[in-house]
Amino acid sequence: MAPVRDLAQLLRDEAYVFRRLVYKSLFARRLQGDAVDRFTQVYYDSHLLGQTRASTHWLGVHTDKCPLDLWIYGELLHELRPDLIVETGTYRGGSALYLASICDLLGKGSVVTIDLKPRDDVPDHPRISYLHGSSVAPELVAEVRGRTRPGDVVLVVLDSDHRREHVLAELRAYGDLVTKGSYLVVEDTILNGHPISPEFGPGPMEAVEEFLASDERFRVDRSREKLLLTFNRGGYLKRVR
Ligand SMILES: C[S@@+](CC[C@H](N)C(=O)[O-])C[C@H]1O[C@@H](n2cnc3c(N)ncnc32)[C@H](O)[C@@H]1O
Repeated sequence: MAPVRDLAQLLRDEAYVFRRLVYKSLFARRLQGDAVDRFTQVYYDSHLLGQTRASTHWLGVHTDKCPLDLWIYGELLHELRPDLIVETGTYRGGSALYLASICDLLGKGSVVTIDLKPRDDVPDHPRISYLHGSSVAPELVAEVRGRTRPGDVVLVVLDSDHRREHVLAELRAYGDLVTKGSYLVVEDTILNGHPISPEFGPGPMEAVEEFLASDERFRVDRSREKLLLTFNRGGYLKRVR
């Protein structure tokens, strides 16, 4: 009986390998693509019903981020162990608090987060500093640069004004700060029909395309989109040189 069972197992294994090959080569992109696009739209727009990003919190503080992207940030921080995380677009401070909490777990790192104006409801945390003004104001960029020390690992997250010209200006202002092997994350690249809000106009995705056309130091790291639902399609930029 044993050889028959072995043969049955072998056939099951072969069938599994075959199914994986067929799925990978023929169907994955189409099957996943349609489903993921549709779910991304449903997820993003459900804030209108008070769900998803309208009611996502970290330790009680609202964040606009997709939880699956937060998981990716957790993995990035564990791998990179950054000394400094720069975030543009604080809003209520939930994403800054999340990043600072992971730094707590790692025992390393601080977060500097920038928004136009102060709010009195953002969380106090010893690893977070708040700066105010436009993220592309030369004095603010200089202030952030002044917080880095030689040899520091620096990660940058762009999540402020999502219009192309602003994101492009941020990419150019903060790209230099990102250390080799680390990331420049451009949030909300899904705007302007990629696949949500086709009426938005040129946004983060268009800024990334223009930036990468003239900057050889960064590559899109698609492996960071492995959880399928992400607000940052094509937005995880790894500094490779
Ligand atoms: C999408 S929210 C940030 C969400 C936050 N990172 C989170 O995940 O919870 C965008 C924020 O960017 C800020 N903002 C808009 N234009 C800006 C600019 N030029 N400089 C800095 N912040 C800006 C807005 O005031 C708003 O609070």
